[in-house]
Amino acid sequence: MVRFWITYLQLVELFVNSLVHLLYGFYIFSSAVAGDLSQALNEYFQKPKLNNVEVKDGKLVKGVEEKETNANDLPPIVLVHGIFGFGKGRLGGLSYFGGAEKKDERVLVPDLGSLTSIYDRARELFYYLKGGQVDYGEEHSKVCGHSQFGRIYEQGHYTEWDEDHPIHFVGHSAGAQVVRVLQQMLADKAFKGYENTSENWVLSITALSGAFNGTTRAYLDGMQPEDGRTLKPICLLQLCRIGVIIYDWLDIPWLKNYYNFGFDHYNMSWKKMGLWGLVECLLGNAGPFASGDWILPDLTIQGSLRTNYHLHTFPNTYYFSYATKRTRKIMGITVPSSILKIHPLLFIRVLQMSQWHHPPDVSPPYKGYRDEDWLDNDGALNTISMTHPRLPIEHPSHLVEKDADCQPLQPGIWYYKIVEGDHILFIINRERAGLEFDLIYDSIFQRCRKHAFRKKLPTLPNEIHH
Ligand SMILES: *[C@@H]1O[C@H](CO)[C@@H](O)[C@H](O)[C@H]1NC(C)=O
Ligand SMILES: *[C@@H]1O[C@H](CO)[C@@H](O)[C@H](O)[C@H]1NC(C)=O
Repeated sequence: MVRFWITYLQLVELFVNSLVHLLYGFYIFSSAVAGDLSQALNEYFQKPKLNNVEVKDGKLVKGVEEKETNANDLPPIVLVHGIFGFGKGRLGGLSYFGGAEKKDERVLVPDLGSLTSIYDRARELFYYLKGGQVDYGEEHSKVCGHSQFGRIYEQGHYTEWDEDHPIHFVGHSAGAQVVRVLQQMLADKAFKGYENTSENWVLSITALSGAFNGTTRAYLDGMQPEDGRTLKPICLLQLCRIGVIIYDWLDIPWLKNYYNFGFDHYNMSWKKMGLWGLVECLLGNAGPFASGDWILPDLTIQGSLRTNYHLHTFPNTYYFSYATKRTRKIMGITVPSSILKIHPLLFIRVLQMSQWHHPPDVSPPYKGYRDEDWLDNDGALNTISMTHPRLPIEHPSHLVEKDADCQPLQPGIWYYKIVEGDHILFIINRERAGLEFDLIYDSIFQRCRKHAFRKKLPTLPNEIHH
């Protein structure tokens, strides 16, 4: 009887969570469509009045002359999205970063696939900037069962990128880890035909709710705590998996143009793998979910350990991170810090994560693991995971409480701030954060432009930049 009730409650929980996520996805999708339609209508009726509108490939391109200032001398600031994210050009006119890209003259917003693995995203990011066809690497592609070569960027977005023309990166959530993996690849000279890459191609990394150490939410959504790689038989992620496989198999061009999970290198379209291929994918014998080459395994604590094992914090790069938190302690118990200020999409998860217990019959993800370290969270990630990389070894860090704590900014140290906010406070909808939205992005861009630069290499440990 008790078992029956537990199963029943689990199914109710799954149903409510699926509904919340589906509704939110639908809301985002329809607001993107509505935004596009109203923009198209506006342009249609105002067309004769605008003189800087150009027609390119049958599409209206607005404001072509506006951005041609001296921005070309500035190193670009590259905003890297997180899970379920999208770059410029997807979901119509919707901006993942809530329009923050308009705050600076030279900002790039790449589209790296919304569910692809951190490794695959890092490879794509390189070719997005340098140009050329994405090369996922021979060995990795073989192991994971996808094509070695992917999308072609006919024109790189920053072809002059090198040690003398380094870049600022700002990553949200998993995007922050993507940038760290890319920096390590540059240091390891992991791109064929680019023998000169080095970690110094990266001037600064800023993490907004960065997923450095994994999250207990991965297990709540359905990853097995035993291995951090496979899925529970019935869970939210199973529904998501089936949805994604069918979406990619149907391969409806306009829809995929609008939103893409990023698995094109897996050839999951009906044209390429037929009905039998679909069955194989659904049964879990093929595709990204079978090989584990997608984002969720990378977001478990075990997955982060595997990734972090190879990643360094480099002495000439500036690091800054904002860890978000929407919980507090009342009489020793961690609870959500607010009801109204937490997005409905995340409320249940904030509550669940604040009560998380690692299953007692499963060995802990690392030696010294304690539930209580992982209770504070923002609905998607644990606060402890977002401050700086800690697993398997802790990297140099410095808590910032007032701005004077980080001036002058030193490279090679993770400065971090704890911010009251849920995981999506600073993305998609800028109105939710209000003034805070402007404060946080203004300070990020200002730090990139004014404080984080190097005169020449190598930098002495105590050299001060202004
Ligand atoms: C995917 O299809 C392309 C050709 O369309 C092919 O070159 C590639 O090998 C295929 N990859 C896989 C993993 O089947
Ligand atoms: C690589 O670096 C060396 C020495 O720094 C330089 O001489 C060479 O031209 C560089 N090669 C490329 C392809 O940039």
